[in-house]
Amino acid sequence: MLIKRPSEILPSEITPHGTYLRRREFVSAAGALALGVAAGIRAPAAAAQEGRKIKGFIKSKFSTTEKMNSLKEAAGYNNFYEFGTDKSDPPLYAKRLKTQPWTVVVEGEVAKPRTFGIEELMKMQMEERIYRLRCVEAWSMVIPWIGFEFNRIARLVEPTSKAKFVEFVTAQQPETMPGVRLPVLDWPYIEGLRIDEAMHPLTIMSTGMYDEVLPNQNGAPIRLVVPWKYGFKSGKSIVRIRFVEKQPRTAWEKANSQEYGFYSNVNPEVDHPRWSQRTEKRLPSFFANHKTQLFNGYGDQVAGLYAGMDLRKLY
Ligand code: MTE
Repeated sequence: MLIKRPSEILPSEITPHGTYLRRREFVSAAGALALGVAAGIRAPAAAAQEGRKIKGFIKSKFSTTEKMNSLKEAAGYNNFYEFGTDKSDPPLYAKRLKTQPWTVVVEGEVAKPRTFGIEELMKMQMEERIYRLRCVEAWSMVIPWIGFEFNRIARLVEPTSKAKFVEFVTAQQPETMPGVRLPVLDWPYIEGLRIDEAMHPLTIMSTGMYDEVLPNQNGAPIRLVVPWKYGFKSGKSIVRIRFVEKQPRTAWEKANSQEYGFYSNVNPEVDHPRWSQRTEKRLPSFFANHKTQLFNGYGDQVAGLYAGMDLRKLY
């Protein structure tokens, strides 16, 4: 563990009662996978890409000038439940994630459905976006992502007039992910956005951070980043994108719709049912050292998306 854990909310409190993954079960599932690999039963997953530099990206006018967290901090304290519910599990276990070959299927209400190889997506003109990341658990970081606007994918597949929402489906690899063998969430981890939120210039598909391809624990080889929403809206390791007519049912809504609504915009005025959202711990601090900002400080750009909606409601 690179960052000492603040006296924070436990995963047992985040996940609904009854589905919390007990540590012993997880450790035994993770151990069984490791044994399988050691015995040659399963091919070890290659993390060959990790650490590779990304070149030729441009700096973005949308970046914050706030002090950034270090790569060690951002890659050492993660939520990626497919690899365990403890913050130190993903840095340990996500090395096994198989990131090659990797494709992203884009389908649904589009004129030109397509399957993109990751190599093709990596060739897009990349930008560095230094964004605040605010987790629903009341901690935050500042991370220099590298990626491209999601709307560029959308323009290639041409959504039809029926496309009102976008569903993001993330990888489910039982052979590398000990967490998906246990009923913590209804796997695969699915997230969704309204189409105008997805098309907003701040919504990016990220393939890297800190000048390098994404570490596996941060969602390699490609993830979503939606900076004005709680971090759980930014799905990691995306394999399928569906343009749909109806609001998707997300994994967290299925787990606990009272606590994790579809919109989940950062809002200091709306407490989580079990803790306040007024302040946050900017890691590596142990203490609430920041006031949480409405829309995580991106209100000038995104507030218009919610004109006429009651922001106090979870939706
Ligand atoms: N994506 C998947 N597939 N599985 C997850 O458990 N956790 C989410 C989000 N994306 C999660 C996920 C949560 S709760 C947060 S706060 C962010 O990823 C954390 O991203 P980071 O580890 O890169 O900081």
